[in-house]
Amino acid sequence: MKIFADTADIQQIKKFLDMGAIDGVTTNPTLLAKQAVDPAEQVEKIVKLVPGPVSVEVISTDYEGIVGEGKRIAELGDNAVVKAPMTQNGLRAVKALSHEGIKTNVTLVFSPSQSLLAAKAGATYVSPFIGRLDDIGQDGMSVVRQSLEIFRNNSLGTQLLVASIRHPLHVIESAKLGAHAATVPPDVIDKMFNHPLTETGLKRFLDDWELLGKKLGSSIAPYRN
Ligand code: E4P
Repeated sequence: MKIFADTADIQQIKKFLDMGAIDGVTTNPTLLAKQAVDPAEQVEKIVKLVPGPVSVEVISTDYEGIVGEGKRIAELGDNAVVKAPMTQNGLRAVKALSHEGIKTNVTLVFSPSQSLLAAKAGATYVSPFIGRLDDIGQDGMSVVRQSLEIFRNNSLGTQLLVASIRHPLHVIESAKLGAHAATVPPDVIDKMFNHPLTETGLKRFLDDWELLGKKLGSSIAPYRN
């Protein structure tokens, strides 16, 4: 499963790229607003920095507007993915854009029927928002499970991109189900790295090493320069 960073923060993106943790990035108007800088410049920088797919969301809600914005977003780079809302105008625009070979990501998906329609429109990615479903007491992961089943049983080439992830378990469950990708906020990626036993284990190794140095009467670091 591919992991995308769900952020418009360039420092965080760089950090995860350097660790090989991420394959792409997703942005949205809220994430760009948090950066409080010119959004067009920020998006341009992210598209240049990231070798993999970068989703950039349109602001228009009418068909012509979405298509126009989508074409300009696609010109940012081969890795730019046009994010369009799960509306009738959105899907019409996705169909037109995908006919021109432009990659698309249908956002704000909350049900398997929406996933099916977005896939039929030719979307490259469909993004079910599982955390927001969990927030209202529904089972977000069930939309992932059902959408994947629909895509597989109907030979639909659309990739399921799990979105609105709240914790590492969401990522692991998505990977176990065979989702194509998950977009993960930086704080959740950090949590995926951490385990208290890793920290205490490392501390014990280093403490034992220091103890050995004390016994031998000198600090030992045979492989250091
Ligand atoms: C998806 O691409 C969205 O950017 C994102 O996952 C929304 O998640 P939220 O519910 O945390 O805002």
